[in-house]
Amino acid sequence: MASSTLEPLTILGGGLMGLAIAYELAKQGRKVEILSRRRSEAAGFVAAGMLAPHAEGLEGNLLKLCQLSLDRIPKWIEQIEADSGIQCGLKNCGIVVPFASNLERDLYPTAPFGINLTRKELDHEIPGLASGWEAGLLFKQDGQIDNRRRLMRALEKACVELGVHFQEGAEVLELIHNCQELKGIKMRNANGEIETLYHREAVLCSGAWSRQIFKSIPLFPVKGQMFSLQGPKGALQRILFGPGTYLVPREDGLIVVGATSEKEAGFNSGLTPSGQRKLKHGVKALLPEANNWPQMEQWWGFRPCTPDKKPLLGPSELNGLWLATGHYRNGVLLSAITAELLSKCILEKQINFYEKELLNTFTLKRFIKL
Ligand code: GLY
Repeated sequence: MASSTLEPLTILGGGLMGLAIAYELAKQGRKVEILSRRRSEAAGFVAAGMLAPHAEGLEGNLLKLCQLSLDRIPKWIEQIEADSGIQCGLKNCGIVVPFASNLERDLYPTAPFGINLTRKELDHEIPGLASGWEAGLLFKQDGQIDNRRRLMRALEKACVELGVHFQEGAEVLELIHNCQELKGIKMRNANGEIETLYHREAVLCSGAWSRQIFKSIPLFPVKGQMFSLQGPKGALQRILFGPGTYLVPREDGLIVVGATSEKEAGFNSGLTPSGQRKLKHGVKALLPEANNWPQMEQWWGFRPCTPDKKPLLGPSELNGLWLATGHYRNGVLLSAITAELLSKCILEKQINFYEKELLNTFTLKRFIKL
């Protein structure tokens, strides 16, 4: 990359992905500036924080990428916790996926990675599980992290300690470029003034809004509504992942319930009665008693999705503009590997052959000629 190492690299988006990449680059001595519009709307903030490649039934190269990230997470989080002094709530709690029959279970794409459960074993793992579930899979290797209350805060603090510069309330208006190269970023700062940063290297990690900044990428929002319940502490030990609804128990008894999947909603914000009803039905079908537990919060967010539901990673057709977006349902999980691989690309560090080949399958060139 042509830019001087003295010139800051600009991170377009202050969500989880932006923070994770900034942290990785700053640790290696790169000067970084983050432009963040509104942290509270970032997908990494609104997500439930599941680390669930197996429970989600992923396949192919996406499963491989997610598994690589899952392997890296314990060490990565240990480092973030050490640098920030904030515990991130990483919990290797395992995830139970229930099925109506053994056949359904055996057909699940990730069944070979799980432990088969009978109904009796399901009752042991998930006391109070609704009737109708006759088989299950336990993925002991899957877990969760408290992204909403801890991880984002920890990464932000670690970035500040490392000298990352933040512009909060900054809206990117336009990328300035010729047909080959990024030349700068036009933005509106928190005071409403228009500014141009003549930075020639940037990472686009603006989640569902990435296409508003860079039109060539095929990316759209998929809205998710969620709520949380306060259950009795320890009532649920493992994550319960059913079709369309999941329950994620935090250490303190808070249970995060997600999530609707509404492509047709576009960027329409807000809760809807039908979305909330759908989640409540989902809870009833999984763990009926949980619908009696007090509801604490309700919220929504927008997942960044591409046509093949896989992320966009690596170079774009503009020299200087990197992509780290489109993580759809797996952003929290993929933050560790995304930060590592992107920072290696940006800093021109060696990537092993296997990871390089894998990364290649997630570049923009699967959609357009670069
Ligand atoms: N990762 C779960 C979701 O996006 O709802």
